[in-house]
Amino acid sequence: MKTLIEFIHEKQADFPFATGEFSRMLNDIGIAAKIVNREVNKAGLTNVMGFEGTSNVQGEDQKKLDVFANNEFIKALGHGGQCCAIASEENENLVTFDSKMSNNGKYVVAMDPLDGSSNIEVNVSIGTVFGIWRRKSEPGSCGTMEDLLQPGRDMVAAGYVIYGSSTMLVYSTGKGVNGFTYDPSVGLWLLSHPDIQIPEGGNIYSINEANYIYFPEGVKQYIKYCQGDDPATNRPYTTRYIGSLVSDFHRNMLRGGIYMYPGNKKNPDGKLRLLYECNPIAYLAEQAGGKASDGFRRILDVEPKSLHQRSPLFVGTKHMVDTAEYLMAKNSPDFNPQA
Ligand code: AHG
Ligand code: MN
Ligand code: MN
Repeated sequence: MKTLIEFIHEKQADFPFATGEFSRMLNDIGIAAKIVNREVNKAGLTNVMGFEGTSNVQGEDQKKLDVFANNEFIKALGHGGQCCAIASEENENLVTFDSKMSNNGKYVVAMDPLDGSSNIEVNVSIGTVFGIWRRKSEPGSCGTMEDLLQPGRDMVAAGYVIYGSSTMLVYSTGKGVNGFTYDPSVGLWLLSHPDIQIPEGGNIYSINEANYIYFPEGVKQYIKYCQGDDPATNRPYTTRYIGSLVSDFHRNMLRGGIYMYPGNKKNPDGKLRLLYECNPIAYLAEQAGGKASDGFRRILDVEPKSLHQRSPLFVGTKHMVDTAEYLMAKNSPDFNPQA
């Protein structure tokens, strides 16, 4: 099987601007992911579970593994020198590096170092999500806010790591989605899932339905649609919800389905963060032939205004997201049936 490094080098030729820096950065992410994987696998044996005693900018308690994973990815990207700034769920402000090499780096990274961290204690799959953009500011000084506040459509790569029954690294550089499974016996990422495509015929819907009464009318109607009786369209669908975006999306991308985290009465923009959760997942979904929306518009076209901005997310098999979008529009006050 092809290794991640072989694959990255082979694909480098696809990019006329490639100088090897981008490849090096992807490789560094792969190395940090191995280190995080090692700790995740030891959860329960060593003292890595539980709370760090601090909270992040969202006011969420940080777990020890949130902090560990954050440090590992920042260290790897800082050491590599291709990345000039990072936006992370665990850091209120931009992370920049006090080094000439990093200040000359061409790229910026937005990341959720540990996604689904509430699942650590119960041995359920968790993940890491990342998106990569080219910087807008001139190289030679620290990366800026402007470098990170770019729409998802301008990403040059995105991916995730899933620490599950096996650990996988799944990423795209805009030419399809490829998945690598980690073989711990040799310490290598091996290409196990080339050119992933979201199946059209899947029947999974994933949503935290306990919030039903707070959902917008369009979402309530879409849930009822999923539960409808129509064998011709594979309905009723089946519900699967882990509570780790990465794991829920990974399953739906391989099997076919829709993941939704809508806005609700308490949080109109939902819970997920645009830069480092919605955008990378949306990029992968589109690259796999699927679709990602905030209910009304393409996620990748949303112009970000702040690092930790939230957005509703509807992502997965295209026709499912289309139907959800239709019902959202139909139930919005400015619905135009002619449009
Ligand atoms: P994180 O652990 O990075 O804070 O993310 C948790 C997110 C996401 O992974 C998941 O899909 C969602 O929270 C689940 O939220 P609910 O518990 O509200 O369903
Ligand atoms: Mn998350
Ligand atoms: Mn997280």
